[in-house]
Amino acid sequence: MISVKNVHFSYNKETHAIRGVSFDIPKGQWVSIIGHNGSGKSTLSKLLNGLVRANKGEITIDGEVINDDTINSIRKKVGIVFQNPDNQFIGVTVKHDIAFGLENRCIERTKMMEIIEEYAKKVEMEKFLKAEPSKLSGGQKQRVAIAGVLATNPEIIIFDEATSMLDPEGVNEITSLIESLKGEKTIITITHDLDLAKKSDRVLVLNEGHLVSDDTPSETFKKIDILTESKLDIPFNLKVYNLALNDEKINNKKELMDVLWELSLKK
Ligand SMILES: Nc1ncnc2c1ncn2[C@@H]1O[C@H](COP(=O)(O)OP(=O)(O)OP(=O)(O)O)[C@@H](O)[C@H]1O
Ligand SMILES: [Mg+2]
Repeated sequence: MISVKNVHFSYNKETHAIRGVSFDIPKGQWVSIIGHNGSGKSTLSKLLNGLVRANKGEITIDGEVINDDTINSIRKKVGIVFQNPDNQFIGVTVKHDIAFGLENRCIERTKMMEIIEEYAKKVEMEKFLKAEPSKLSGGQKQRVAIAGVLATNPEIIIFDEATSMLDPEGVNEITSLIESLKGEKTIITITHDLDLAKKSDRVLVLNEGHLVSDDTPSETFKKIDILTESKLDIPFNLKVYNLALNDEKINNKKELMDVLWELSLKK
């Protein structure tokens, strides 16, 4: 569904944000992208829907190479819930905002209202349809932004830190929503939340624009050196695992480690 081949991108002479990144994502897979601030995650998401164009290399989405001729079709296929929801609001009310992406798709008015209500309900914002987006809280804005993108029904959905402003309950709700899309949509979650990354099928690690790891969550979080070099935190359970590994006093270490490892991978 997504094929990225040796892609480079610079905003200007100083910032070479993406450096020779390659990966393929099959249809229906859920991939998380992790990396420290400024490592190139949001830039990569913008490259995937053609918001910025690669200086070198090629990106293919659902069989179409991104270029001037395919850009309109690509934008329909790749929906992004942006990191800062304020950048996403255009409507006067929440209703208008969710409707925005649907407007140029020739959807009949009653059908459009049904879709808006369905997705507002999914993110528990149905009571706010008449509210002004600028007056919502950060978490409420993120919920509306998610509804807006889901309503357009893209094949690929990129969630760029889409739960960063949500309370723990909200994070759980949106995580369940993402999980419910699994298999049906191709999903990319850009996140600093390692518990969310753990739930995905695969994890890509970016460091200074380089792709430094592409593996299952289980294998990724074993790569302590790469994670540390990439200035990333190590999941708590894994810290305990390493502690036990280096503690000579623990008897039956193997058993203990197996239990801890299982615990750290529990979904
Ligand atoms: N519009 C822009 N113009 C110039 N440089 C930019 C622009 N946007 C991002 N950059 C630079 O590109 C690099 C990658 O930024 P990017 O936003 O992709 O990082 P990120 O991994 O998403 O970080 P974060 O975790 O903070 O969201 C950084 O060095 C950043 O300063
Ligand atoms: Mg970002």
